[in-house]
Amino acid sequence: MWLTLSCNGGSSMKIEMLLCGAMLAALSLNALATTVAPNQAATESSGPGEVSFIRDVQPILHDYCVNCHEPGGKGYVKSGLDLTSYQGTMKGTKFGAVVIPGNSEVSTFTKLLTGTNNGLKMPMGLNSSGTLDRQYILVLRKWVKQGAKNN
Ligand code: HEC
Repeated sequence: MWLTLSCNGGSSMKIEMLLCGAMLAALSLNALATTVAPNQAATESSGPGEVSFIRDVQPILHDYCVNCHEPGGKGYVKSGLDLTSYQGTMKGTKFGAVVIPGNSEVSTFTKLLTGTNNGLKMPMGLNSSGTLDRQYILVLRKWVKQGAKNN
C-alpha cells in the first residue's frame, strides 16, 4: 500500500524524497479541505455582527446628523463637529474628541443620543420624542464599542 511507503531514503533517495514530500502535501491539503469550514476565512475578517462605518454608521449620520453637522450647518458652526466623514467624526468638536474608541459610555457622540449630557440631546429637535430610533442608537454604540473603526 502506498500509505505504508517508507520515506527513509534508499538507492534513489532524491526521487523518493520528492515523492514523499508531494504525498505529504497532498495528504495535508486533503486534511485541511475536510476540517476547515468553507467560509471560515470570510467570517474571521469581518466577524459576525461587526458594525461597518461605511455600511452601517454613515447612512445614519447622513440621515439624522449631517444636516447640521456639515460645514455651514448650525451644529458645525456652534461646535465644530463635522459628521460628513470618518475623519471629521473622529476629530470631534473644537474642544476635542466625541468618540472614545471602545467606550460608548464616555463618548459624547453616543451619550447625547439618550440625553445624558447636561440636557443636551442629539439629534437636536428631531421629533416629538426627540430621540433617535433605538435600533440606530444600538448600531452607533456598537460601532464605538468595537473600536470605532474606519471599516
Ligand atoms: C438640528 C441640528 C442638529 C442635528 C440634526 C444634530 N445636531 Fe449635534 N449639535 C447641534 C448643535 C447646535 C450643537 C452645539 C450644541 C452646543 O454646544 O450647545 C451640536 C453638538 C453636537 C455634539 C457636541 C456636543 C458637545 O458639547 O460636546 C455632538 C457629539 C453631536 N452634536 C452629535 C450629533 C449626532 C450624533 C447627531 C445625529 C444623530 C446630531 N448631533 C444631530 C445641532 C444638531
